[in-house]
Amino acid sequence: MKHALITIGCTREYIDPVRYISNESSGRQGIALIKSLLKFNYKVICLHGYLQTKQIVSKNVKFIFTPTADEMLREAKKYKSIDLGIFNAAVSDYKAKKYNKLKIKKKNGLSLKLTNNPDILRSMSFGKYKPKVTVGFAYETNDVFKNAKKKLLSKNCDYLVLNFPTAEDKIFNSKYNNGILIGRSGDFLNLGNVTKTIFANKIVKYISNRKN
Ligand code: C5P
Repeated sequence: MKHALITIGCTREYIDPVRYISNESSGRQGIALIKSLLKFNYKVICLHGYLQTKQIVSKNVKFIFTPTADEMLREAKKYKSIDLGIFNAAVSDYKAKKYNKLKIKKKNGLSLKLTNNPDILRSMSFGKYKPKVTVGFAYETNDVFKNAKKKLLSKNCDYLVLNFPTAEDKIFNSKYNNGILIGRSGDFLNLGNVTKTIFANKIVKYISNRKN
């Protein structure tokens, strides 16, 4: 049985006990990917942030809640000899430089000092933690191909799934997704504008059938 590590959902970076910085992600595409991985006989470790969708119950999936980028990366580094790493989580790029233990009082305007979070995909795909095959995701709204190819190389992925909104649908928390799978060797697969289930099946099938 092959082993997959997947990150899904969105992380949250709390500023004070009630306020946080986060990204759009329902986790629906991530859960669909896990279902596909199970179909293709993978044992799955899922590191997840916040989800707006139900998890799956299966002896072949382990869900671990990693609410922040730091926690997600710390946990990811515990897994070695992974066959396939899919980095689907919408990780917050920034966190507050200083967490306020007490709720910040409302006033006229507020400046926050932010600092960068670690890039989990990048940290995992260079060096000793690299799964045999890595897949990143990129949601782009402009210069979609140019940005996606840049990301594929800078994050050292074997594959990058480029998502982009359609005229009618921003994709977030939708039943549908829209995009293209780009391979490092120049190959690509048009995934189309299809349900997240079909989208996931096409990705996992394509990658599983490739000799890497
Ligand atoms: O740079 P951008 O956020 O568009 O990159 C998206 C890809 O990088 C996704 O695969 C996402 O899971 C991953 N990522 C990450 N850690 C971050 C930011 C993005 O793993 N801090």
